[in-house]
Amino acid sequence: MPMTTTATGDVLRDSLDAGSTLPADWYVDPAVLGAERERIFESTWQYVGRTDQLSRPGDYLNATVGSVPVVVARHPDGDLRGFVNICRHRCAEVVTAPGRRSVLQCHYHAWSYDLDGRLVSAPRSDREPDFDPARFSLLPVAVDTWEPFVFVNVGREPSPLGDYLGELPALMGRDGFDAASVTFRQHGEWKVAANWKVVVENFDECYHCPVAHPSFSRLMEVDPDGYRLEEGAWWSRAVTSLRPSALRPGAKVAYSPAGPLGRGQFGFVWPNFTIVQNPGPPNLMAFWFVPTGPEETEVVMDYWFAPDLDDDLVRAIIDFNVVVGREDQALVESVQRGLRSGRVPQGRLLVDSERLIQHFQRLVHQALAT
Ligand code: FES
Ligand SMILES: [Fe+2]
Repeated sequence: MPMTTTATGDVLRDSLDAGSTLPADWYVDPAVLGAERERIFESTWQYVGRTDQLSRPGDYLNATVGSVPVVVARHPDGDLRGFVNICRHRCAEVVTAPGRRSVLQCHYHAWSYDLDGRLVSAPRSDREPDFDPARFSLLPVAVDTWEPFVFVNVGREPSPLGDYLGELPALMGRDGFDAASVTFRQHGEWKVAANWKVVVENFDECYHCPVAHPSFSRLMEVDPDGYRLEEGAWWSRAVTSLRPSALRPGAKVAYSPAGPLGRGQFGFVWPNFTIVQNPGPPNLMAFWFVPTGPEETEVVMDYWFAPDLDDDLVRAIIDFNVVVGREDQALVESVQRGLRSGRVPQGRLLVDSERLIQHFQRLVHQALAT
C-alpha cells in the first residue's frame, strides 16, 4: 500500500497496544484515504438515510458510499432494494436526487430500470440486433436497517449488519434508547477541516469535556467514574448520567432536562456512524462522519424527538448540540493542524480515559496494515 508511515505492521500494532496513536501522516496522506475508501468504507455498513424517507412503494434515495454511488428503493413487496447507482449504458448516475417512481430512469439517455434493477426500457435499443436487456441490470448492493437507520454495504459478501451492531442495540435500549418514541424532525450537514478519524476519535472520549464543553459538563457527569466506556468487536458506547444539579430550579443549563431519559449515551458503530441520546425528553441524534478529502469531513446529522415535544425545547436541545459541535470543531481542526506539521509523529493516549480511541485505531490498523 502506498503509505509513508513512521511504523508499519506489527511494530505499529505493538505501539498502539502501548498507547501510541496512529502515525500523524495517516491523517493527511491522500493515499491513506484512498486505501480507507477501498478497505473501510467500501466494505462496511454505511449509513445512507432514514426509513421515513422510504416509507411508500417506489420511494428512493441516493447516496455515495466510499466512491460508489448507491440508490436504495422501497420495492412494492415492502422490502428495501439497494443498487449501485451507475447506469449500465455509459455509467452516469441513474438518479441524482431522492424521489418516488415505479422505474428509475437515467437522466442521460433515459435507460429505465424497475425496482428489481432490471432494464425495462432503453430508447432505440430495438435498432440493435443483438441487444439483450437482461445483461444490463443494475448491480445489487446489500441494504439493511436498524430502527430508523438505513445502511448499505457495497462490499462483497458482507457480514450481516447485526454482527456489527452486536450488543449495542440491547445495551442502548437498557438505558432508554427507544426509536419508537421519536419521529424525525431535522436534517443538517456540517463541514469540518479535519480528517474523519480525528472526528471519530474526538467523539470517542470525554477526557476533553471538563476543559472544552462547559454547557455539556453542567448537564452530564463527565468525570472518569461517572462516564462509563464499553466496547465490543465493532462498536463502542459511552454512558453518563444527568447531574442532579441540572434539575434544580434556576440551574444554568442549556435546556430543561426533565423527562424520562436519565442518561446520556453515545454509541459508535465502526467505522463512522454515531448515535447520541441526550438526557431529558425522548430524543435521538445520528451523526455520520463522511470523509470528503484527507483533511475534510462532512458531518451528516439527523435529529428525532418525541412527536409532541414543544418546538422551543427541540430548538434548545439542537442549539445545545450545535454549541458542543462548534467547540468540538475548534478542537479537531486544531488537532489537524498539529498532525499536518508532522512534527509529532505519534501521540500518546491515556488508555483509561481514551480506551475507545485505542479500540478504534486498532480497527483502522487492522483494516489498512494487513
Ligand atoms: S448513461 Fe444512462 S442512459 Fe446513457
Ligand atoms: Fe467534544
